[in-house]
Amino acid sequence: MSSNAPAPQPAPDDTWHKILEPGELPEGRVASVSIGHENLAVTNHNGTYGALHNACPHQGGPLGEGSIENGLLRCPWHGYDYDPTTGQSPPPFDDAPSCFAVDAREDGVYVSLPPEPPRERTVSDVLVETMTNWGIDTVFGMVGHSNLGFADALREAEERGDLRYVGVRHEGAAAFAATAYGKLTGRPAACFGIAGPGSTNMLTGLYDAKVDGSPVLAISGQVPSKVRGRAAFQDVDLEGAFKDVARTSTTVLAGSDHAELMTLACKTALVERDVTHLVIPDEVQDIVSDASAGSPAGRIGSRLIMPPSDALEEAVAAISKAKRPLFVLGQGARAERQAVIKLAEQLGAPHGDDLQGQGHRGRFAPAGLWSAWAQWHTGRLLVHERE
Ligand code: FES
Repeated sequence: MSSNAPAPQPAPDDTWHKILEPGELPEGRVASVSIGHENLAVTNHNGTYGALHNACPHQGGPLGEGSIENGLLRCPWHGYDYDPTTGQSPPPFDDAPSCFAVDAREDGVYVSLPPEPPRERTVSDVLVETMTNWGIDTVFGMVGHSNLGFADALREAEERGDLRYVGVRHEGAAAFAATAYGKLTGRPAACFGIAGPGSTNMLTGLYDAKVDGSPVLAISGQVPSKVRGRAAFQDVDLEGAFKDVARTSTTVLAGSDHAELMTLACKTALVERDVTHLVIPDEVQDIVSDASAGSPAGRIGSRLIMPPSDALEEAVAAISKAKRPLFVLGQGARAERQAVIKLAEQLGAPHGDDLQGQGHRGRFAPAGLWSAWAQWHTGRLLVHERE
């Protein structure tokens, strides 16, 4: 059953965009397609294509994940129906998503869209700018309907050269990648998912971070606040679900101090070498904001750790007495490469740079230790470096 409303026509200042290759969307199927900032639910019913704004007028359900039932596009959340080519509801209802003109041409299917309004700075921009100010410049994640606002701020930051976004195909991979990043660099990366299962998929990787003391910032999209607690699609209490694995798990609200919540999440991950978690409801991500971003300025002391002076004196005395001292340097020295090389040169010892071309450089512990032992045993002094 379809409405009698006419199919939409392109406006004079609209632009045509190709959305499908010929035959790409089979008869009777629905797909989500993004063009710029417009997210579309595209349908093919009885050989006619339709394109509706991909948010159900009822509570924002993703129409592009719906299905064609009795000739109508059915929302996957609560089953409201819409005409796939006009967006009209069947009588007696009168709500309708925006609907766009579609043209099926020989080389594919095109949709006509109005020019995009200028982009405004949002809460998501404040959060992302604060995150990058704290040095979190790598994000592993998956974009979906409940994290689009934050994803757009990530895209802007990537275009400015402030961060690198790595798309993954499962949020578990994002969490493990961020965990490994923290272990290898000592600096937190972020992992990023949508509401519900998209975020709970991150839990296993985050437990790996927790038990190994790797700093990670986890970020979750969330269903719109107005449907929280009403058993809506993908409505999970993510703040509660992450409380065990994360040192802090906080929901960012419309009235929150957004920069401060991100500052606390970054600082805690960094200082405590642990997991922190922010949940950002869908509508909060897009709130226009001119608030200043946060930063580490005045919020964190030096992270250098000095050994006690008596231990240092003991080490100096041991080195002075030793005929063939051997230094095995672990992860704790990874940020002090130049100091290690300088010490080796003062002692006249070969070090990692000297060993280039001998198959030693960059080896991990077993090979490095073996080579160190061999050279010590033959009477050579060695500072061996692990990258
Ligand atoms: S029927 Fe679509 S959000 Fe409720």
